[in-house]
Amino acid sequence: MTKQTVSFPDLQDAAVVITGGGTGIGAALTAGFAAQGAKVAFIDIADAASRALAARLATGHRHAPLFIHADLTDLDAVKQAVAEAESAHGAATVLVNNAAVDDRHELLDMSEEYWDTNQAINLRPVAFTAKAVAPGMIAAGGGAIVNFTSTSYMLNIGAMPSYTAAKAGIVGLTKGLAGRLGPDGIRVNAIAPGWVMTERQKRLWVTDAGLAAMIDRQCLKRPIEPEDMVGPCLFLASKASAMISAQVLIADGGMM
Ligand SMILES: NC(=O)c1ccc[n+]([C@@H]2O[C@H](COP(=O)([O-])OP(=O)(O)OC[C@H]3O[C@@H](n4cnc5c(N)ncnc54)[C@H](O)[C@@H]3O)[C@@H](O)[C@H]2O)c1
Repeated sequence: MTKQTVSFPDLQDAAVVITGGGTGIGAALTAGFAAQGAKVAFIDIADAASRALAARLATGHRHAPLFIHADLTDLDAVKQAVAEAESAHGAATVLVNNAAVDDRHELLDMSEEYWDTNQAINLRPVAFTAKAVAPGMIAAGGGAIVNFTSTSYMLNIGAMPSYTAAKAGIVGLTKGLAGRLGPDGIRVNAIAPGWVMTERQKRLWVTDAGLAAMIDRQCLKRPIEPEDMVGPCLFLASKASAMISAQVLIADGGMM
């Protein structure tokens, strides 16, 4: 685990909404923003893990993170979840779109329904959470949106065409949102992680040989941990990156 040593004073008391903040990279982000003294609301469907995380972070922080159960494929639930976060913490000035499902799927077996379901979690919520927080962010005088894309779409990986299309779409959406919301003082950027050793990755896909091959391609010769995504995300959320918008920050140990 990489210990978080950096501090961004403008994130103290900031109202932050994180999607998929209950496990994986999202859990590291929830903990990372809480450690900055931010008021974190995180949206997830993984109830047990999210409750356990909220309980673990309830003490020792300026604000206990708020877990909001919502299925991000349900756009009414997205609206309600953002409204709940706003009523608890005030208008969000930081939104982190982190949730995704990277299930593998074979092109030749892919149904229309599978494509739509996959896009409904991997791309659509990024647009509609932004739409939901935008009025409050505009009224608050500005904010920052950080969207998680992936280096996988740049690597011609064939095992998940809908996922990689969504991840490329997030870059386009990031740029479109940055153009639309920039005049209102809202910056929109993306982070493209390399292969991050979450519990899910380790359970489903990581092998010693696969990890060694990836590290061989990285300049930095160690596995990438969820906590390695925290610093880049805090930076893009904070006013430390005040004139950075419409950008993609690759955080992959120098593989690309
Ligand atoms: N782990 C990696 O190697 C890697 C690499 C590149 C990009 N990324 C990106 O980083 C982000 C986080 O990835 P991760 O590996 O931590 O993912 P993960 O699968 O470990 O966690 C995703 C979280 O999103 C939640 N979620 C999934 N579907 C949901 C839904 N319908 N409604 C609400 N919550 C839902 C899950 O419950 C989970 O807590 C994703 O955008 C992913 O594409 C990850």
